[in-house]
Amino acid sequence: MRTQVAIIGAGPAGLLLSHLLHRAGIAGVVLENRSRATIEATIRAGVLEHGTVALLNATGVGARLAREGLVHEGIELRFGGAGHRIDFAALTGKAITVYPQHEVLKDLIAARLADGGDLRFSVADVRLEGVGTEHPRVHCTDAAGTALHIDCDFIAGCDGAHGICRQAMPEGVPREYLRIYPFGWFGILAEAPPSSHELIYARHDRGFALISTRTPTVQRMYFQCDPAEPAERWSERQIWDELQARTAATGFSLHEGRIFQRGVIAMRSFVCEPMAHGRLFLAGDAAHVVPPTGAKGLNLAAADVALLARALDAHYREGKRGPLEAYSAAALARVWRAQHFSWWMTSMLHRFDEATEFDRRRQLAELDLVVSSRAAATSLAEMYVGSPLA
Ligand code: APR
Ligand code: PHB
Repeated sequence: MRTQVAIIGAGPAGLLLSHLLHRAGIAGVVLENRSRATIEATIRAGVLEHGTVALLNATGVGARLAREGLVHEGIELRFGGAGHRIDFAALTGKAITVYPQHEVLKDLIAARLADGGDLRFSVADVRLEGVGTEHPRVHCTDAAGTALHIDCDFIAGCDGAHGICRQAMPEGVPREYLRIYPFGWFGILAEAPPSSHELIYARHDRGFALISTRTPTVQRMYFQCDPAEPAERWSERQIWDELQARTAATGFSLHEGRIFQRGVIAMRSFVCEPMAHGRLFLAGDAAHVVPPTGAKGLNLAAADVALLARALDAHYREGKRGPLEAYSAAALARVWRAQHFSWWMTSMLHRFDEATEFDRRRQLAELDLVVSSRAAATSLAEMYVGSPLA
C-alpha cells in the first residue's frame, strides 16, 4: 500500500498525530502492536496541560473531556505537616485538567474511526526501511497474519520508550542522555471519594507521596518506593498506613477504600537527540521520557506532534522544507525545559538515601522558598500548566 505518513504507535503521540494530519488532509496509517482493548484499558498519566486541552478542543475531540474532565486551578505542596497551595489561576490565569490518558486515547480512536482513519491494531514485526532516503518503507504483519508493505513519504516514530524507531537511525546518529533515579513510585487505584479537591504533592522523611484522582469514586495515589519493590507483597493496610503517614496534616483525613489496581513505576529522565533523521521523525516517549513528578509525559507527546503536524502541513500544502528541518531543534527546546522541571520537582520532593542532613535542610528551604515567594511559585505554576502548543 502507499500513504503519505506511516505512524508507528497508537499512544497519545501516534493517535493525536493521526488526528491532526487527517484534519490537514494528509493521508496516513497507524501501526500498533497492541490490541485496541489493551490500549484503551492501560492506566497511565492523568494531567492535561492548558495547551493540550486547548488543542483537543480546537480540533474537535474535547467534548467528553469538557464534560468529564476535572478542572484544577492549583496544587498543594505538603511538607512539615502543613499544606501550601500553588494557585495556578491567580499566578498564570490558567488551569490544568485531570482526565485519564486512556480516556484521551478512547476519544482519539473513536474520532479516527468515525473519520475513516486507517488504524491497524495488533500488528507484529514492524520494520522500517530507507529512513535516510526519499522513499522510506514500513513492513509488518497485520492482525490477520497478512504481510503489509507500505511505501510512504515520511515515518513518524511514535512507538514509545521501548519502541524500534529510534533504533532505525544509523549507528552513531542518536545521542542519548539518561538519568536513572534511585527510587520508583508505588501506584494504586482505589474505590474511595476524593480526599482533596486538588492534587497533593507531599514531601516526607519517609518518602514522597502524591494524592491524585480519576473520578468522584476512583482515586489515584502514589508513594515513593524501591524501584524493585514487589507490589503484590504489600497488604492493603500497609499501603494505606504508608500513605497516611506521608500525607498527615492538621485537619486532613485520607479516605481509604478497596485497592483494585497496583503497580511500581520506575523513574528516569531520557532524551534522544536529534529527534529526526532523513524521513523519520520521532515524537513522544520514543524520543524522551520524564519522571512523572511534573506530569509532563503526555503533554510533551502532544507538543511534539502539534509541531510535527504543522511542519508536515507546511511541506505538503506550501512545499516548505524549513519547518520539518527545524522540527527536532524546536521540539528539543521544549523537551529540555520539561526535563529540567520534572527533574527539579523530583529532586525537591523525594527522599534521597545518600542525602546528608545539609541536603535535607536545603531541600526544605527550597520548598519553603517556592511557597513563600510569588516569583518562585509563579515559575512552578507556569511550568506545570505548560506553555501554548504550536
Ligand atoms: N510496533 C508497533 N507499535 C509499537 C511498537 C512497535 N514495534 N513498539 C511500541 N509500540 C506501541 C506501544 O504499544 C504503545 O501503544 O507504541 C505506543 C507508544 O505509546 P506510549 O508509550 O504511550 O508513548 P507516547 O504516545 O509517546 O505517549 C507518551 O504515554 O506512556 C505514556 O507516560 C507516557 O504519558 C506519556 C505518554
Ligand atoms: C496521575 O494522576 O496519575 C498523576 C498526576 C500528577 C503527576 C503524576 C501522575 O505528577
